[in-house]
Amino acid sequence: MNNRFAIITGASSGIGYELARICADEKFDLLIAADDPQVIPVAEDLRTRGISVDAKQLDLSVLSAVDELYAAANGRPVDALFANAGHGLGHGFLDQDFAEVRHVIDTNITGTIYLNQKVARAMKARGEGRILITGSIAGFMPGTFQAVYNGTKAFIDSFSFALREELDDSGVTVTCLMPGPTDTEFFERADLMDTKVGQQKKDDPAMVARVGFDAMMRGDGDVVSGWKNKIQSAVANVTPAGILAEQHRKMTEPGTARKK
Ligand SMILES: NC(=O)c1ccc[n+]([C@@H]2O[C@H](COP(=O)([O-])OP(=O)(O)OC[C@H]3O[C@@H](n4cnc5c(N)ncnc54)[C@H](OP(=O)(O)O)[C@@H]3O)[C@@H](O)[C@H]2O)c1
Repeated sequence: MNNRFAIITGASSGIGYELARICADEKFDLLIAADDPQVIPVAEDLRTRGISVDAKQLDLSVLSAVDELYAAANGRPVDALFANAGHGLGHGFLDQDFAEVRHVIDTNITGTIYLNQKVARAMKARGEGRILITGSIAGFMPGTFQAVYNGTKAFIDSFSFALREELDDSGVTVTCLMPGPTDTEFFERADLMDTKVGQQKKDDPAMVARVGFDAMMRGDGDVVSGWKNKIQSAVANVTPAGILAEQHRKMTEPGTARKK
């Protein structure tokens, strides 16, 4: 129990898995969660690094599952929260199944902020803690053919800064990790493989996780991973939303993978 303790959501693959590996190397004990059985062998593998790891297979779009995850900490003080679980949803909004739309919103926003509230309240009472929320540079642009996903990330990017400010001087820091396209299962799961963004060269999730972890430990407000994404987000800040929406179409419209 001398180790620090972290909760990581979405640790079964991608950026969350890499965050978990970094935390294990930094000797954090872990409580990890994902909605995929893969989280169980991931926990077994992490345990070989000499830390304790508890794994929960839960759908974090559901509030009672978030309660279950938090209860699994058994009141142990959380030194670091990595609120990372999330998923996308490609295709035109009118073609999407509304249950899937709802799942994106309930995972990326509702479950994420509910867990943040629970953990941040306890951190504030203790006067210490670090939170890393995985937002996205997608939050800077209207997401034509990924409209709901980009909207959820705009929410998360904004929420993260506001919570950080509310916790100013509390000893608790909130950092927003804003990756660009990263080489994970995200694009396959969101059915974006037939799009330009689905096929383009992407960032290494280990690099993205390292950038986020270091920013969180420094207590930075936000970090955009990768220099190309830094430029893209700076340009997005001064580009009219209509033009951003048009540019986004070229990256995410089904069939764009086959266009020159
Ligand atoms: N890859 C990118 O280009 C990119 C760019 C910017 C931001 N992001 C963000 O980075 C975060 C991690 O994504 P990733 O790229 O690493 O993709 P990934 O490999 O698909 O990992 C997503 C993780 O979140 C979990 N998850 C998703 N929905 C969940 C739910 N309802 N309940 C519990 N766990 C859930 C997934 O497990 P299960 O699906 O098995 O539950 C998985 O562990 C997400 O928030 C994503 O929006 C990704």
